[in-house]
Amino acid sequence: MNDAISPPEALVATTHCTLADYERLYQRSLSDPDGFWREQAERIGWITKPTRIADASFDPVDIKWFEDGVLNLCWNCVDRHLETRADQTAFLFEGDEPGSGRAISYGELYREVVRMANCLKAMGVTKGDRVTIYMPMIPEAAVAMLACSRIGAVHSVVFGGFSPDAIHGRIEDAASRFVVTADGGRRGGKLVPLKANVDAALARGAEIDGVLVVRHLGSEVAWTQGRDHWYHELGETVPDDCPCEPMNAEDPLFILYTSGSTGKPKGVLHTTGGYAVWTATTFHYVFDYKGGEVFWCTADVGWVTGHSYVVYGPLANGATSLIFEGVPNYPDFSRFWDVVERHKVNIFYTAPTAIRALMREGEGPVRKHDRSSIRLLGSVGEPINPEAWRWYWDVVGDGRCPIVDTWWQTETGGIMITTLPGAHAMKPGSAGRPFFGVAPQLVGPDGEVLEGEASGNLCLVGSWPGQMRSVYGDHERFVQTYFSTYKGKYFTGDGCRRDADGYYWITGRVDDVLNISGHRLGTAEIESALVGHPAVAEAAVVGYPHDIKGQGIYCYVTLMEGVEATPELEQALRSHVRTEISPIASPDLIHFTPALPKTRSGKIMRRILRKIAENDYASLGDTSTLADPSLVDVLIDERKKK
Ligand code: WT7
Repeated sequence: MNDAISPPEALVATTHCTLADYERLYQRSLSDPDGFWREQAERIGWITKPTRIADASFDPVDIKWFEDGVLNLCWNCVDRHLETRADQTAFLFEGDEPGSGRAISYGELYREVVRMANCLKAMGVTKGDRVTIYMPMIPEAAVAMLACSRIGAVHSVVFGGFSPDAIHGRIEDAASRFVVTADGGRRGGKLVPLKANVDAALARGAEIDGVLVVRHLGSEVAWTQGRDHWYHELGETVPDDCPCEPMNAEDPLFILYTSGSTGKPKGVLHTTGGYAVWTATTFHYVFDYKGGEVFWCTADVGWVTGHSYVVYGPLANGATSLIFEGVPNYPDFSRFWDVVERHKVNIFYTAPTAIRALMREGEGPVRKHDRSSIRLLGSVGEPINPEAWRWYWDVVGDGRCPIVDTWWQTETGGIMITTLPGAHAMKPGSAGRPFFGVAPQLVGPDGEVLEGEASGNLCLVGSWPGQMRSVYGDHERFVQTYFSTYKGKYFTGDGCRRDADGYYWITGRVDDVLNISGHRLGTAEIESALVGHPAVAEAAVVGYPHDIKGQGIYCYVTLMEGVEATPELEQALRSHVRTEISPIASPDLIHFTPALPKTRSGKIMRRILRKIAENDYASLGDTSTLADPSLVDVLIDERKKK
């Protein structure tokens, strides 16, 4: 294998999984999935052990795992550790201000989760109810998730950066009658008015029975008597024990909204047993986690990465997981390494966009801090360019820490393609090999299966325990979105190349989904926000290469008759999108144009818009089917002036 970097010998000697183990286990996971997953399910404590393991079909679509098993995931993450590690740190909390924070032992976590669960019950939450969680990155966010899973409520975490409109849409879609939030959060020295955002969301109309508010900032907040409850007050009045609700393996665990190529965000539904086994197993193998180590995943719990690798995966393994409220550049660009040094982080898992942003600041801020505790690095969320990979390896890891580049999706529940740190050689830019039970397939333009070295659309054949089960409230959309492009296969939406060594190289989305700094956004969502502005007639949004964010948001906009394209209007549109969706959806480039290129049947030709946005005019392809082919030159002229 040319250019491949072998795993360090010391790690090969101590790893949970050598290359020989991987080959054997991977083969077995495909040839005998029932036997393999029956064994992996032993990582979980079951109230009733499952006798049925895999029962999953993609045609017709019907996916079940461990279906006669009964368990409680909160018990697995908290209660079962009390006997052996009540005093061990479960969460290390590092607040926005350096050094602010605290350590929470498994014993303390148990008491907090019970208190929160009883508060939810006191507000009327019962099994199956949806609870919306809109929180800063503080331990209570994880506590709220665990409290829900303890009592069988279905959590729907909404990222704390989303706007009142986005919260409202998600509350409505989930028909959620309960919200857990905080007075506010801190990010990079700025205050985020979370409770005010919830108030604004609910003012748009929603049937809400209770809002539980964690006091974090101690700031003044508006109060709706009867609806709003302070956690610290209600928590005083509740009992100090709370039984774990026995859950069927296929009972819903959570909903998490994610953007698709069309329409509004969809509620990805994950169920209990399969997700528990998947996150516990992937955490164990991919991070090669050894007892007592400090694991830090920098993702917010508002994203699936936070669900699976800040909360459930680490705690199911009895690990110590670090929760960080802040941002990488506050108070300065050395913050990550300051936290690593002070908390002696052993495993560090972040996104390429953060690596690229830090890389730009040079080696100084990294070298300033002792990083000798780190033994493993991880990357997630978007393709990592080899240059950033090299910097991560050389500078952050001092050339001694393996990097796992983990490919997966909100839909997959956990890591799907990655190298295993003690087993596989690494190739910068390649995610690596399929995890146990994962059967990737590359499909060509005519739906043909490509063998060996090839590039095509990435599909997965056969289910895995962590797979999403449905789109909440719209099963047909689930079937349509993932299983209708190629019959009998799950289509990921990603393009991919497989090399001669069987390594997978993800090339990015092939649909109208953007990946902005590892955050997923649909072009349709942004377009719909833009056309919601009174000045806008039509909008078409595409991605284009961006040095730090990976992809930037490029908006073609036509204006209503008589409206003038001014810098003020451009600014107004930008802030309109920010308030409609979130600052992460803020347009990078707005291109006012008299018309959009359409076919004679009125379909916008996005292929052309993408090429022009990329400044790639040589390969526009066939433009003769356009209703007005001369428009292309106009667009190119305008682009060059940007
Ligand atoms: C999309 C899923 C995985 C949790 C965070 C994002 C892209 C993710 C990688 C990677 C190349 C990656 C894909 C995927 N992606 N990880 N290691 N290499 N691309 O979850 O928001 O559901 O987005 O992120 O395009 O489809 P998500």
